[in-house]
Amino acid sequence: MNAAADDQHSVFLPDEAATLALGERLAQVLEPGLFIALSGNLGSGKTTLTRGILRGLGYAGKVKSPTYTLVELYNLSKLDLYHFDLYRFNDPQEWLDAGFRDYFERRNICLVEWPERASELLPVPDLKISLSTQGDGRRIRIAAETEHGKRCLDRLPD
Ligand SMILES: Nc1ncnc2c1ncn2[C@@H]1O[C@H](COP(=O)(O)OP(=O)(O)OP(=O)(O)O)[C@@H](O)[C@H]1O
Ligand SMILES: [Mg+2]
Repeated sequence: MNAAADDQHSVFLPDEAATLALGERLAQVLEPGLFIALSGNLGSGKTTLTRGILRGLGYAGKVKSPTYTLVELYNLSKLDLYHFDLYRFNDPQEWLDAGFRDYFERRNICLVEWPERASELLPVPDLKISLSTQGDGRRIRIAAETEHGKRCLDRLPD
């Protein structure tokens, strides 16, 4: 993986298997308390990356896209992982109305697809991940926005 800037990684993912593999690798450095924002257009690979992360955390079950449910919870041995998809929000206020703020706590990892839909109501993400299409594959950029995020990203093996 190339370090494009100090706290930013960028890598080309040629196929779905590469997205899953990167997710599994990322899982090795994630810790409870992290908030990860997953940005990118429809179909850019956000849910696929989340599947890889969950697999890397030892989850063997099915990972559904939370498009309709808005959030899916995974109880793992060491932590709880909340996977959000805010695509269907019409108004950022829905974030507060749904009580989702309460899920951001020390024991949990929160992964949020379409964080832009809740705009400034979300805290600063520890890791900001963006996915975009590049040819037949995807480009992923991972930036650490907090000290906690930076400590985790620094441990990501090449
Ligand atoms: N690196 C890759 N190269 C090519 N295709 C990929 C890659 N990673 C994932 N895909 C494919 O992209 C498609 C969409 O992936 P996914 O559902 O993860 O997108 P998403 O960003 O979560 O979309 P949405 O915004 O609708 O939730 C899937 O068919 C998946 O197999
Ligand atoms: Mg998705």
